[in-house]
Amino acid sequence: MKPSELVIAIDGPAGAGKSTVAKALARDLGLRFLDTGAMYRALAVKAKRAGLGPEDGVAAAVLGQQTEIGFSAGEPQRVLLDGEDVTDAIRTLEIGELASALSAFSEIRRVLVARQQVIVAAGGVVLEGRDATTVIAPHAHVKVYLTASLEERARRRHVEMAAKGQAPAYGEVRQEVERRDHRDITRQDSPLSVAEGATVVETGGLSAEEVVNAIRLLADVAVRAG
Ligand code: DC
Repeated sequence: MKPSELVIAIDGPAGAGKSTVAKALARDLGLRFLDTGAMYRALAVKAKRAGLGPEDGVAAAVLGQQTEIGFSAGEPQRVLLDGEDVTDAIRTLEIGELASALSAFSEIRRVLVARQQVIVAAGGVVLEGRDATTVIAPHAHVKVYLTASLEERARRRHVEMAAKGQAPAYGEVRQEVERRDHRDITRQDSPLSVAEGATVVETGGLSAEEVVNAIRLLADVAVRAG
C-alpha cells in the first residue's frame, strides 16, 4: 500500500487529544483530516438556528439531509455549513452540548456516518471521532483509542478554550466533559468503546508530539504490511 492511501482512525472520549493528534498526523503524513465531531457541531448550529433543541433529533436529522457540511482545503481547515464559515461558532460549550445530545439519535448518526464513509472510502485520510474505529472506519489500516483521566482531559479542554478567548470556569468544563462521557458511553447507538484491533494509548503525561510519533510507527507497520 502507498502511504498516501492510508486510513488512520482515532477514537476516544472528549478531550483525549484526538483533534490535535489527528491534525498533526494528517499534516505530517500528507493525508486529509476529517473532524467528524465538527460535522455534528455544524448540524447543531443549524438546528439551534431553526429553533430546535436537544430532544429534536428526528427533526434535526431531516434538516441534516438538506444541509451541506464541508471542509475547506488548506491550513487551518475551516468548517463550512451551507457554505458559511462556522469554524468558530461550533466551538462553544452550548453547541458542544447540543451536538452531544443530538448525536444520540440514530437518525442523525445515519445521515452523518454515511457522509463520513464516502469521504473515508477515497482513502488517504486521518479521521477522528467517537465512533471512528467502531462504526465509520472499522477497516481502517490503523485504529487508535486515545484516552486520559477525566481531570487531564478537562484541563486540556479548559486551556484550549481559554486560548480561544472563552473563559468558562474549570469546574464547568470538567462537569461538561463528565456529562459528555456519560452520554457518549451510555448511548444506545454506537456507544464509545474500544474497537477490536484498536491500540489503546493512554496520553496522560505524554506530549501531543509523542503520541503522534507512536501512531506514525503504527502507520509505518501498516504500510509495510501492505
Ligand atoms: O469531538 P467533538 O467534541 O467535537 O464532538 C461533539 C459531539 O459530537 C460529541 O459530544 C459527540 C458527537 N460525536 C459523535 O457522536 N460521533 C463522532 N464521530 C464525533 C462526535
